Amino acid sequence: MNSEWSLQQTYFSAQEFRASEGLFTQGNGYLHIRGSLEEHLSDCPQNVEYRRKPTNVTAEKFPNITSRWGTFIAGFMGKHPILNSQIVNLPYVLGLKIFHDGEALDMVHCEIASYSRQLNLRNGVLSRSFVWRTVSGPIITVRFERFISSTHKGIVVQRLKLSSDEDTNIQVQGGIDADVRTNGYDCFSEVFMESAGSNKVYCKVKVDGYSMGILSELISDSGDWEYYQFSKKNGLASIFELKKAIEIVIEKRTELKKIGLEKEDFLADFELEDLYSLTYENLLEEHTKQWDLKWRDSDICIENDPVSQLAIRTSIYHLLRTEVLEKGVSIDAKGYAGEAYYGRYFWDTEIYILPFYIYTHPMSAQKLLDFRINTLDGAKENARKYGYSGARYPWQTDIHGRECCANWQYADHEIHVTADIVYAILHYSKAVKSSYLNEASELIIETGKYWLSRISWSENNSTANLLGVMGPDEYTLVSNNNAYTNRMVKLNLELSAHISKLTGKNNREIKMFEEVAQKLPIPRKGDLILQCDEFETFAEPEFDKYWQDRSKPFASQVSQERLYRTKCLKQADVLMMMYLFPNDFTNQEVKKAWDYYYPYTTHDSSLSLSIHGFIALRLRMHEKAWEIWRKVSMLDLDIKNGSAAEGIHIASCGATWQLAVFGFAGMKTSLETDILTFDPILPKQWKSMSFRINWKGQKVFVRLYHDVCKIKNLSNGNIQVNVSGARGKLNADQEAVFQYRPDVEIEALEEVTR
Ligand code: BGC
Repeated sequence: MNSEWSLQQTYFSAQEFRASEGLFTQGNGYLHIRGSLEEHLSDCPQNVEYRRKPTNVTAEKFPNITSRWGTFIAGFMGKHPILNSQIVNLPYVLGLKIFHDGEALDMVHCEIASYSRQLNLRNGVLSRSFVWRTVSGPIITVRFERFISSTHKGIVVQRLKLSSDEDTNIQVQGGIDADVRTNGYDCFSEVFMESAGSNKVYCKVKVDGYSMGILSELISDSGDWEYYQFSKKNGLASIFELKKAIEIVIEKRTELKKIGLEKEDFLADFELEDLYSLTYENLLEEHTKQWDLKWRDSDICIENDPVSQLAIRTSIYHLLRTEVLEKGVSIDAKGYAGEAYYGRYFWDTEIYILPFYIYTHPMSAQKLLDFRINTLDGAKENARKYGYSGARYPWQTDIHGRECCANWQYADHEIHVTADIVYAILHYSKAVKSSYLNEASELIIETGKYWLSRISWSENNSTANLLGVMGPDEYTLVSNNNAYTNRMVKLNLELSAHISKLTGKNNREIKMFEEVAQKLPIPRKGDLILQCDEFETFAEPEFDKYWQDRSKPFASQVSQERLYRTKCLKQADVLMMMYLFPNDFTNQEVKKAWDYYYPYTTHDSSLSLSIHGFIALRLRMHEKAWEIWRKVSMLDLDIKNGSAAEGIHIASCGATWQLAVFGFAGMKTSLETDILTFDPILPKQWKSMSFRINWKGQKVFVRLYHDVCKIKNLSNGNIQVNVSGARGKLNADQEAVFQYRPDVEIEALEEVTR
């Protein structure tokens, strides 16, 4: 049961809990905490030591545990003995345990009624209430609520309300638990704990060159707090008198703060100390106002389809939650909601996530790209390590720009990420700030140099080949002239040439950039674009024989060796290129590619299906596009299948936004056009769709119906718009209504889209 603004659960299920922990993750761009229970579950240790192997994540089996805590600070990483740098799962700070007459509150073992839990997407407040029928008689009503402050960086605020149907006593313990491992490994070389006054506790954990300081404060009208400490846990405990039908309220506020190792006396530096005068309501109010601002520029309203409405808002919620606040970090593949992929940054950010920020929160988009500029030295080092010139970005990077991927297959061969970054820079520069190309000029030229040193000339110098490459489809290990990679590299080199000309750089190099860009082949056979030179020589995957359980990834049912020698695809590859370079290909070519590759594609990667959604829309396969939309937009909401158990598929959140805006609303990106253009194909299930867009610094509000599009210019200057071929100019504050043609068949569209 869900409203359009909140994710709601009306029952507790141990089986589904871990996925809901991922889905209910809260955060403020800096601090992120999974949706775990305040009182936790018994028999669910978080310090289990195991060796997480550097294996293929798609086929990996994670240790089976009902609840997995996750407290992450963006970019707070530490060493792992086999996996290289990984994000650190910090001590659990939410703990609020409740005991009645020796019985510990536990969702599995106690008698619980009227359970309800909801995450309010509008302001990221997570609340839970239920009735606890205690063994010794009293019926206790429990209400938890918490939020990660969007106005005070490292601060989480919690409130607990308790009442009983008869007079009784209850014990509450609020504390910090540092007995937490990350991916089976204990990252804390030192744990220091102490009491920090009558109602505060302190914990400091040391990780490599840094420490994380944690200060927790408990606030209540009655009760005396007593300090406890054992093993790697500390906290405060107090007994409260519960008078029949009179509610008691306990608050817990915690701040996490990264500190240098040399600093000793720092308690005074904690901001928590300055918040005395603010009540829970004050803090919640300012927090909610900040979220309102975030939503103002990014909400998408869908009329007539509550399921899609909730799904798109869930994706946007996670994108807003992960929006980076500070220099030096990016958005990791699990959206800071789990340990899988070790908190590292992939091409996911530039290709899947970035467009949302470009068109809604452009300043945050730039922070993501600045991260790449700031880690250029790491990319240069990486190129040198492989024996090449220039800069080669790592497949999986940590905050320092080092290659962290422990699997040689991807680290060595999946080189397209370097050109993807340049594509994203071009996108941002065209959409928001043309001078950004200057800021990124060294990156653009150095990556160009890398490609010059990475190509192999054919005998007669007629083609410049990229050999031994893994494209986006990770089920083809090493291939020659992967079409996607070559097309991206061509863009990279063209931009390197362009920037070199502007900066008056070496003519010979400019010629080389241009020549290689021109001579990179896109393999094809007639109208069929080949994924790589040898694609047709691969064996048939024989899905019927080997992929018996379609609810599980193909990769979990066959050996990696079979993946590598057959035509099965993990994810969109040629179609990915066609999505990102729509004007390079005719509809016939796109259709041909769909017909050929779709039956071979397993969609084992969550990055795959969304791209097929765009292609289906381009080919006017409405039913298919709709079916895909449902699956893509609901991916992490599907807690029955445990989708979000290991974290949020944040790339898929970005893709959901793109499918709504670039797909159904048909908005062209600034890479395709200088004029704000819509070619809408609204699903018949929706009555209307409306949203705001930031187009080259100007804001507009768009409301789309099936045959009418209303656009309001929210900026001071004029803006040109184009709706399905009808052009108009809107003055400041002006609203215009465009009629657009109802849906037409693909043949009829041929001329328009070519
Ligand atoms: C996909 C990659 C993606 C990575 C992180 C893999 O399963 O194949 O394309 O970058 O996950 O999301």
